[in-house]
Amino acid sequence: MEITPSILTANFCELGKVMDDAISAGIQWIHLDVMDGNWVVNKTITFGPGLIKSIRQHVGPDIFLDCHLMVTNAEENWEQYVDAGVDLVIFHVEAVDNISKLIKNLHSRGCQAGAVLNPDTSSSSILPYLAELDLVLVMSVVPGKGGQSFMPEMESKVCEFRTAIDSQIASGGRSTKLMIDGGIKHHNAALIKSWGIDIAVVGSGLINNNGTFKENLEKINLML
Ligand code: DX5
Ligand code: ZN
Repeated sequence: MEITPSILTANFCELGKVMDDAISAGIQWIHLDVMDGNWVVNKTITFGPGLIKSIRQHVGPDIFLDCHLMVTNAEENWEQYVDAGVDLVIFHVEAVDNISKLIKNLHSRGCQAGAVLNPDTSSSSILPYLAELDLVLVMSVVPGKGGQSFMPEMESKVCEFRTAIDSQIASGGRSTKLMIDGGIKHHNAALIKSWGIDIAVVGSGLINNNGTFKENLEKINLML
């Protein structure tokens, strides 16, 4: 299971150093949480394509960047994120009308396509598109901010996706990745690994005042 940091709890004046610390600790994938001040329940604004472009320039071409779009208009402005240099755009199925068209648009620009669903959204909103998707993200908190408590009741949804993806791969289909986001810490890392998660997003469990990035990552990896 791969760990990808969410930078939401970082001091944004120190982002360059946060990226450097993450990369020197062995991180190869960074998760970028975009909130537009409208879509998430607490109306948070985080950052947009401008900052992502600077992050791409800072980390260079070899670090994998995904953007988790918590925005109302992903179908209209997805291309800004591709232009900013992300490798994967993850859109909320609750906010998109024509899911197949958005996936095709992303693929036409050479960008990977991922779909994410809120804790109270059913897997049936994504399963019909599984064969086209490069990644499925299951939210284990209500999106909006870092530092919330993990929702263990997401197990059945994760296992449903794991089973569907495994049978897709077994029949020669796409190797869709399975990701989880929200409330992941060293104490539940082994649990989600046992569910068959490929990539876990970790925000406050990595970027906090209790230890360095490297120490916090080692604490998680020791549990895996
Ligand atoms: C939640 C975001 C997350 C989150 C992760 O809206 O999508 O990526 O901030 O942070 P932790 O690990 O602190 O829950
Ligand atoms: Zn996220």
